[in-house]
Amino acid sequence: MNILVTGGAGYIGSHTVVELMQEGHEVVVVDNFYNSKPEALDNIAKITGKKPTFYEVDCCDMEAMEKVFQENKIDGAIHFAGYKAVGESVQKPMEYYQNNLLSTLVLCQLLRKYDCKKLIFSSSATVYGNPHTVPIKEDFPLGPTTNPYGTTKLMIENILRDIFISDHQWNIVLLRYFNPIGAHESGLLGEDPNGIPNNLVPYISKVAVGELECLGVFGNDYDTPDGTGVRDYIHVVDLAKGHVKALQKLVSEAGVYTYNLGTGHGYSVLDIVKAYEKANNVKIPYEIKPRRAGDIATCYADPTKAKEELGWTAEKTLEDMCKDAYNFIIHNH
Ligand code: UFG
Repeated sequence: MNILVTGGAGYIGSHTVVELMQEGHEVVVVDNFYNSKPEALDNIAKITGKKPTFYEVDCCDMEAMEKVFQENKIDGAIHFAGYKAVGESVQKPMEYYQNNLLSTLVLCQLLRKYDCKKLIFSSSATVYGNPHTVPIKEDFPLGPTTNPYGTTKLMIENILRDIFISDHQWNIVLLRYFNPIGAHESGLLGEDPNGIPNNLVPYISKVAVGELECLGVFGNDYDTPDGTGVRDYIHVVDLAKGHVKALQKLVSEAGVYTYNLGTGHGYSVLDIVKAYEKANNVKIPYEIKPRRAGDIATCYADPTKAKEELGWTAEKTLEDMCKDAYNFIIHNH
């Protein structure tokens, strides 16, 4: 297929572009480098032997986006582009609603106009809010979300369901990511946040290479085995492969399909610290800090539906995730 990938230079987007190209798909990347760098495209070319078609475009810019559709025969889109920092979204809700909602609406209007009503959307486990039980299944209740970022994901899911109700020609896949970590095994692609990382593993990596002194563990009094928060960490390459598998739903019966992309295993913050230390033979000093606002105790997926309907399961181990995260940071700091 000829796939338009928005945010294709970003963390999950770039890994997905590699997997798509390696499976023989044609890819058109759109990115405005808001939270990514042009080098990602060069590195995709180093890995795959080919540079994807690229447009430096803001997805909210209808005119510029339309040019992409005029110049390429697009079969469907994967929409990664969006603002994604939980804490920042609390400070800048207007920017988050404007950017995340508008970019999706612009994209959908063009998919309709150019008669390629096929879309895979990057959603998040955050749409489940604080789940009553784990593991989380796709039919669990949604919300309430705890921050504007999470609300944009839930609102976009609702918008996409309404779009399908209005026009049953659409094929829409909502992929709810759990906690993607790690990097491409080449060390060429990975997560490289600007400033002090908000997320656990990027922070640990900066401690591992001495850029930051000490990890703050946000709370050790949760109702979990060791008191620290439990999450479903998934290797970003496994997650990327989930998108390739999801393409089959874009060419099957029209509908809205929803899948959790996680491993089904929960690891605590201290499990991750220990696994990272062991995999890479490094020391990660940490101190216990107060809980972080908006955090929940435990979140992990039941990934059975993706296995049964897409034939996808995460294959990489926690050790792979820790090794690849470290390999990336030592090559990129
Ligand atoms: N944590 C720390 N110290 C840190 C950073 C994180 O102890 O410096 C802890 C958190 O309290 C949490 C765990 O590590 O228990 C994971 O935190 P992350 O920030 O890495 O990830 P979250 O689970 O908070 O959020 C992630 C994505 C969101 C997404 C959410 C879905 O960043 O985009 O998963 O559940 F919405």
